[in-house]
Amino acid sequence: MHYTAIVVVGARPNFMKAAPIFTQCKKFHEVTPILVHTGQHYDKELSRVFFDDLKLPKPNFYLGVGSGTHSEQSGQIMIEFEKILGKLDPDIVVVVGDVNSTLACALATAKYRCGKHKYSPVIAHVEAGLRSNDWHMPEEVNRRLTDVLADLLFTTELSGQENLIKEGITSDKIYHVGNVMIDSLLSYKKQAEKSRILEQLKLKKIEYAVLTMHRPENVDVKETMAGFLAAFEKISKSIKIVFPVHPRTKKMFDQHGLKTDFLRVTPPLGYLDFLKLLVNANFVLTDSGGIQEETTVLNIPCLTLRENTERPVTVDKGTNIIVGKDPDSIVEQVGKILSGERKHGQMPEFWDGKAAQRICKIAFNYLKVQN
Ligand code: UD1
Repeated sequence: MHYTAIVVVGARPNFMKAAPIFTQCKKFHEVTPILVHTGQHYDKELSRVFFDDLKLPKPNFYLGVGSGTHSEQSGQIMIEFEKILGKLDPDIVVVVGDVNSTLACALATAKYRCGKHKYSPVIAHVEAGLRSNDWHMPEEVNRRLTDVLADLLFTTELSGQENLIKEGITSDKIYHVGNVMIDSLLSYKKQAEKSRILEQLKLKKIEYAVLTMHRPENVDVKETMAGFLAAFEKISKSIKIVFPVHPRTKKMFDQHGLKTDFLRVTPPLGYLDFLKLLVNANFVLTDSGGIQEETTVLNIPCLTLRENTERPVTVDKGTNIIVGKDPDSIVEQVGKILSGERKHGQMPEFWDGKAAQRICKIAFNYLKVQN
């Protein structure tokens, strides 16, 4: 038997998750891996630079969907992805993470196979079961619905398994395999040392903090963002804050006329430059999901600027503290870190660089048993 496996990417956090899976797929002679990029992210800094850094091949199909409201974007991805399904009739579709492209492609696949004589393509969701229990986050909607549709659910941490079982998903579909994002981190850490980003930004190890913020609930409301900026301005009197700014956040700063001159604002960085920046940082302030995991592995203190996390293992075992949105609490927690009160982490189970290997082995065995 020969199998066609589609791996979907769409937005920045997908690339470092899909890259190790795509590389592993290529090692199976009986599999033709096909890379589909929805075009949800299209700027060079949010997309192409990651293909170069992570040695991802040019996508076999680029859907060119671009920005829009959530429904416009998701709907457009479904329309375009359905055409690829019709053309290739793949055996398996692998979606990663929780962005709009993840759910849209999973849903298009579930619709495509309706009424077919066999239950194909198989839907595999990598990074299944994470839950913030906050339905106002678009990512929570995406992950919950993708998990309902998936046949193979690959979890990064044990909370994922527990959540899925609680929601009635049967244990035979769930595989605890570890974290593909950490596969990429471990395989590129050495190469990232060569990045010249610290010299370019005139920074020295430990003498700066890294800030990232892009979540709509944080950056879209002027008053919320102003509160954060007040906290960052106080912190910047003790340590430099480097802020690679997401286009969405930049747009909001410009629109609201918010002052950021106490931050070292840079354009979005590529994978290797950002990794180098993280590795050498004193601590990190972020509302990203993936960075909570990366800082745990790198043993760098992470203050998460949200009220919850879907990645509790980074708090229970790792270096993450959920600090919320209150400016005084943020300043207080930073004070503790700067005075030496630093959380040290342990490595969660299977965050060992081999998650993609496990995923491919399980997925292709599953296909063989089915056929
Ligand atoms: C998306 C993901 C989020 C992820 C984030 C990482 C969803 C619902 N959200 O959020 O989970 O953490 O990516 O970056 O899928 N834009 C550009 N250039 C681009 C892409 C977007 O300027 O290449 C701007 C556009 O103004 C666009 C806005 O960013 O409207 C938002 O882009 P979108 O893809 O809708 O969501 P993100 O905020 O990037």
